[in-house]
Amino acid sequence: MLRFGAFMSVPGCHPTGWRHPDAICETDISFRWLAHMVRVAERGKLDAMFFQDSAAVVGSNVAYNAEPFNVRNGRQAHIEPVSAIAGLAAITSHIGLISTCTTTYNEPYNLARRFLTIDHISGGRAGWNLVTSQAEDEAGNFGQPAHLEHGARYDRASEFYDVVRGLWDSWEDDAFLRDKASGIWFDIDKMHILNHEGPHFRVRGPLNVSRSPQGRPVVAQAGSSGVGMDLAARSADMVFTAQRTIPDAQAFRSQMHALMAKYGRAPDEVRIFPGIMPIVGRSAAEAQDKYEQLRDLVDDNTGLRGVARLAGGVDILSLDPDGPLPELKPSNAARARQEMIIAMGRSGMTIRQIGRVLGMSQAHRVLYGTPQSMADDMEEWLDAGACDGFNLLFAHYPKPLEEFVDLVVPELQRRGIFRTEYEGNTLRGNLGVPIPRNSFARVPEHA
Ligand SMILES: Cc1cc2nc3c(=O)[nH]c(=O)nc-3n(C[C@H](O)[C@H](O)[C@H](O)COP(=O)(O)O)c2cc1C
Repeated sequence: MLRFGAFMSVPGCHPTGWRHPDAICETDISFRWLAHMVRVAERGKLDAMFFQDSAAVVGSNVAYNAEPFNVRNGRQAHIEPVSAIAGLAAITSHIGLISTCTTTYNEPYNLARRFLTIDHISGGRAGWNLVTSQAEDEAGNFGQPAHLEHGARYDRASEFYDVVRGLWDSWEDDAFLRDKASGIWFDIDKMHILNHEGPHFRVRGPLNVSRSPQGRPVVAQAGSSGVGMDLAARSADMVFTAQRTIPDAQAFRSQMHALMAKYGRAPDEVRIFPGIMPIVGRSAAEAQDKYEQLRDLVDDNTGLRGVARLAGGVDILSLDPDGPLPELKPSNAARARQEMIIAMGRSGMTIRQIGRVLGMSQAHRVLYGTPQSMADDMEEWLDAGACDGFNLLFAHYPKPLEEFVDLVVPELQRRGIFRTEYEGNTLRGNLGVPIPRNSFARVPEHA
């Protein structure tokens, strides 16, 4: 069965898609529109709504960009998504609600507390997209002269995850007795003090939030570098990726499963979602028109800045955009994404052409066609073992999401490759990933 995440990169995953006549331009700030969209996604039985985030206005860092700030890119400011999913939890009942939150510029105690709280508010539907921050601009907002180096970010992230996970297990499921007769509020044997001391964090615990309906919120991860994949293999229940071909996605998925085995985890403990930008038409001609309309909205300057952000400090904007991509220094932002553009350069694409791929779909695969042809494609990926589902990147909001739900979902359901009802009430239940045991709980002797 396929699974889907609706990716929220408001006001559109196409950085200049907000100019489309159908686009609602207030989705970055309007809770009313987010509420509308989560209801549409839940009507379509999608697994989760997943919010992207950065703790900065991206492009404000002059270190890699001689002309900071791009007045054309719509993705500059939006309401803070951890707060947004708490609100969305209150008006939904089944859909998962995932927010990005960085390990580089947060403290694990605060983050553990917030996500466990949302798991309680939502009745077990919270997810944390663990990132180390791809936007170098964030450093300046947290007293840092430069973004923490890639390897150091992942070291911190790995320890951060251990602390959060340990804190989420502070209390066993039945630790709180709330027994009026005896006057005992909680069973002290079922409370666990973490006492973590590591290179980055010293956290005593316990967390002042009890264990939640899912045991622990779902952890999502999207790093595809070696260290990124290793952390995902150890920690993630969901993995978001950006492969554009079946062989690449198959290779990623088998590599992830092999890495998981190293940590004693079975392949079905994780769900892998490559990204697609769906553009659906009622006929092939309508889909083609819609695709071309969005392609015409791509802004070259925005695309070139996208390349510049991944160039590891090479001043892309001073080069001939119709020339080849030069040798790049390793990026301290997104490593796997940089490798993707290097491969495009090797295939003969010019800087402008690469920029246009980023400027349309952030280099994710664009899938356009009729509901039938799109379902054929997704079925082929599923059958080939290239994915467990897809992360849906909508060019703008809300119409492409509505069309996916109203036109593509019924076709997938007709083929029996997508649910017609949610399997359960928790995100873990719907994803079919296990509810973890509390790592501190004593295993009964006879178990
Ligand atoms: C679908 C998708 C969504 C992502 N969302 C975010 C995000 O919201 N914030 C962020 O800092 N990074 C985000 N990333 C970037 C990853 O977290 C990661 O930093 C990036 O892929 C580079 O990791 P790597 O250096 O391990 O390749 C996203 C990546 C993908 C594929």
